[in-house]
Amino acid sequence: MSNPTETLFELNHAEYSYPGRAPSLCGIDVAFRAGERICILGANGSGKSTLLKLFAGLLFPQKGRFTAFGAAVTEKRMNDDRFALSYHRRVGFIFQDSDVQLFCSTVEEEIAFGLQQQALPPQAVTERTRDMMRMLGIEPLAQRTPFQLSGGEKKKVALASVLVMNPEVLILDEPTNGLDPRTQVWLLRLLQSLSGAGRTLITSTHHLELAARVADRAVLLGEDHAVAADGPVNDLMKNTELLKAVNLVDDSYPDTIDFS
Ligand SMILES: Nc1ncnc2c1ncn2[C@@H]1O[C@H](COP(=O)(O)OP(=O)(O)OP(=O)(O)O)[C@@H](O)[C@H]1O
Ligand SMILES: [Mg+2]
Repeated sequence: MSNPTETLFELNHAEYSYPGRAPSLCGIDVAFRAGERICILGANGSGKSTLLKLFAGLLFPQKGRFTAFGAAVTEKRMNDDRFALSYHRRVGFIFQDSDVQLFCSTVEEEIAFGLQQQALPPQAVTERTRDMMRMLGIEPLAQRTPFQLSGGEKKKVALASVLVMNPEVLILDEPTNGLDPRTQVWLLRLLQSLSGAGRTLITSTHHLELAARVADRAVLLGEDHAVAADGPVNDLMKNTELLKAVNLVDDSYPDTIDFS
């Protein structure tokens, strides 16, 4: 487990552009410490998912630098299977779109996949997989094809496939999307307990109610794909002018937000 004072992730002047497109991230400078609870906020298209994919080691800045656990993370290093396996073991990523995450032919295989990659004994893989399915109440789905599940069921399977690995850092891209209210509450409680156990949580959302519950610190992306603010989430919630300037809220804010 990481030391709480350790800088886990650091982006310096990072820029990322998809092929043939204008930059989706511009001049990003942020550093996260172990055990922090951070949310990435921003309007649609501001670059939240792209930023999370840099932290997850799925995309790499074309300019600037990304350092994780004290070492530079580059595409070349990630092409080394041992480095990639160890990185993805430490850093779990829940995609915004569960269809991208799920690829096995049954739910049980999907959840067991990461454990099998770690070469655990088959008995331990089966036990941990079943425990995780029980925790999420998805045992009845065990032999179903992930591809044929409902949106919320897919999200639960995606969550299970990452949580079963017990990663040090959990990166969640719009995690409550598609979940029913009961499961949303369950997830928020789970995130609280993971944070209490020292895990680092990085969550993206444009739901301000959620942000205040899952994070202490907010990094706000503007529509120019740069960091517009980085500080305590509660301070940002009160900065109506800034939230309007980045097109995250309209004139009805904060009357339309339920912080209860
Ligand atoms: N695969 C891709 N190819 C080309 N452009 C992309 C791709 N994915 C995202 N983009 C563009 O990059 C920018 C940032 O997208 P991103 O998905 O990171 O935004 P976001 O803040 O997560 O948005 P949302 O709130 O809708 O999830 C957008 O302009 C988007 O159109
Ligand atoms: Mg997104």
